[in-house]
Amino acid sequence: MHILRFKDHETLSQKLASILDARIRETLTTKKSCVLGFASGSSPARTYELLIDRLADPSLNLSALITFNLDEYHPIKQSHPKSYFQETYRMFWRPLTEKNPSFDLTNGHIMNGESQNPGLECRIYEKMIQSVGGIDIQILGLGANGHIGFNEPGTPQDSRTRLIELTESTREANKRFFDNDISKVPTHAMTLGIQSILEAREICLIVTGEAKQPIWNTLKTLTVPTEDIPASFLLDHPNTTCFADL
Ligand code: GLP
Repeated sequence: MHILRFKDHETLSQKLASILDARIRETLTTKKSCVLGFASGSSPARTYELLIDRLADPSLNLSALITFNLDEYHPIKQSHPKSYFQETYRMFWRPLTEKNPSFDLTNGHIMNGESQNPGLECRIYEKMIQSVGGIDIQILGLGANGHIGFNEPGTPQDSRTRLIELTESTREANKRFFDNDISKVPTHAMTLGIQSILEAREICLIVTGEAKQPIWNTLKTLTVPTEDIPASFLLDHPNTTCFADL
């Protein structure tokens, strides 16, 4: 795992946006399509704003840019303001298509948090990713307990896209998005598995803010992956860069 350190969140976001812009352009040119693994949450929000400004270039054709979200709560209405569906629409799909109309909204994918059969939903989602040739660039945030996506501590390396039960600590950490009321945080979520994430050709992990300091202190000293810290499985990935601020 390659580590890049930045003095603050803004500098980190500027650098990552410029790398993502370059990778998307390269991949669209060489491969004729680009599959972006999209993380929700606060860590990449500024990066997405800056990336959208770069992708607004009218000479850039984004019709072959495809996005797959990493995770979604379950059960949750797609219309719920805190569903990752709505967040992604507000934060990425809508501003991107407004600034560069060649981006096709139907190329933005996320699991359906309203599905009555989430197990089947997850298996179909995984097949959809495989049918477009897998993820070129996966963006990840880091949970304070070491999770990536919603792969909580104890998740094995060979896990695939599936329904999981959220830990109390994750629901506690995310209650800030649900009126600070843990009872409003969904009890479950659908997430790409560890193995599904590791199949991405390139991974960018963002570690930002004081809340991530304790887990970062542990993660950066590990040399061997452990199920206790799911993000540590990235140590085995050949092309992962960690973007960390101070
Ligand atoms: C959340 C989400 C992840 C996110 C991570 C960090 O619970 N499941 O998709 O990357 O934890 O979130 P944040 O960036 O808001 O700190």
